[in-house]
Parts: sequence; structure tokens; C-alpha cells
Amino acid sequence: MPKVAVLTGAGISAESGIPTFRGKDGLWKRFKPEELATPEAFFRNPKLVWEWYDYRRQLIARAEPNEGHKILARMERELPDFTLITQNVDGLHQKAGSEKVIELHGNIWKVRCLSCGAEYYDYRAPLPEIPPRCKHCGGLVRPGVVWFGEPLPPEALEQAFNAARESDYFIVVGTSAVVYPAAQLPFVAKEYGATVIEVNPEETPVTRIADLSLREKASTGLKKVYEMLKEHAQG
Ligand code: APR
Repeated sequence: MPKVAVLTGAGISAESGIPTFRGKDGLWKRFKPEELATPEAFFRNPKLVWEWYDYRRQLIARAEPNEGHKILARMERELPDFTLITQNVDGLHQKAGSEKVIELHGNIWKVRCLSCGAEYYDYRAPLPEIPPRCKHCGGLVRPGVVWFGEPLPPEALEQAFNAARESDYFIVVGTSAVVYPAAQLPFVAKEYGATVIEVNPEETPVTRIADLSLREKASTGLKKVYEMLKEHAQG
């Protein structure tokens, strides 16, 4: 039975109405990452950073998982050896029914207290006060996401690289593959002998090493990939 690993990026949530970061109408066209998605930005102006996350949380709270998310949840149920790795923080994979999700960049619904260190989920959208305070000690909390310049959660990173090395199929969906270390995963998978399949309406640095690169949106491309994998699994 094939070992299948999947890496998703913002593109898989595009069909749920969540803007990507680098596309033509991407978030980094309207906002500056260095002003909103770095530790320095947060300590300089926690209120501004929280206003931006509150805006994104409200957007995500109204979003529903799309067919692409649902196909990946079905793959997890039907394929005996399946690993889902995501760069996304929107939690839409879990909302679609995926149970084991390796979140490399954290989760926008998580908060972490800078005073007592408590980490918990806060699903309120909009937030009643900005910046929000820790429910345990009243201290300042930060979003439980990974900002530029910050280390990724070590356990998630290790699980992701192990999955890439051991996979027979490594499927890359909806990522521009320019942010490291996540972007290294398809190259590691390839180096360890995986068949690399990409689903993206545009070319990316992964395209040149992909065994198959579908110029498709996530829901359409994943339907085709799923059919192929089912055929392979039936031998
Ligand atoms: N289906 C599939 N892919 C799509 C779709 C779609 N419907 N629409 C857009 N895309 C593709 C774009 O072509 C692009 O290659 O999704 C990709 C989105 O790229 P980015 O916006 O760069 O998002 P991502 O690759 O996830 O960014 C990685 O950068 O800003 C940080 O931490 C943030 O996790 C994020 C990381």
C-alpha cells in the first residue's frame, strides 16, 4: 500500500474565500508582512497586529471547507498510510474532518500568554477586546502562529520531514513553495524517491522536480490525484 504525504498551502483555502498571501489579490499585496507577521511588529504594536488577526479570524470563522479539504479528509480515512502537513493556520482541514493535521505554522485560533505561558484555543470572532487578555492571568496573549524569523514547532517539523522521507507519493497543493523550511519538503521527498505531484494553477519552484504538475485548482486537481491513488492502491 502506498505511503502518501500531502503538503498544503494557502491555495487550498482560496476556494473557501480565504485570500492567499502572494497571489495577485494576496494579503501581502495589501498588507506588509514585516508590519504584521513578525515578533518585532507585535512588540512594537500589539493592538495593530491583533486587529489584523481579528480581521482574518472573522473571515475564517465564516469560511467553510471546500471540496479540496474534503477529499484530503477522505484520503485520510481510506488510505492506510496518509500524512497531512499544512502551512495554513485556518483550521479548515480539521473542520473538513481531517483528524491528524501537522500544523507547521500554528493555528490562528490558538493564543499564547506572554506572562504565564498558557496556550489555549479562543474561537471568539470578533474578539471582545483588542489586544485580548489571558483568561488565566490577565496578561497579554499573542496569536499561536509562527511569524517570520521564528522557529517552527520542532515536533511538527520532525514529523513532516519524516513523512516526506518515507512517502511513496508526495502531493503539494496550493503553495508557492518559497517559504522555508516547509518549501524544502517536496525536494526532500523527491530525493528519497517519492513520486512528487503538484496541484497549482501556476508554476512554482516545485514544478521542475514534479513527476506530475496539474495546472488546476485544488478541488479539481485533488479529485484527479485521488482517482490515481485509488487505482494504484487496487494494484
Ligand atoms: N487551488 C490551488 N492553488 C491555488 C489556488 C487554488 N484555487 N489559488 C491560488 N493557488 C496557489 C497560488 O498559485 C500560489 O502558488 O496557491 C499558492 C499560494 O501561495 P502563497 O500565497 O505564497 O501561500 P503559501 O505558499 O501557503 O505561503 C507560505 O508564507 O506568508 C507565509 O506563513 C505564511 O504559511 C504561509 C507561508
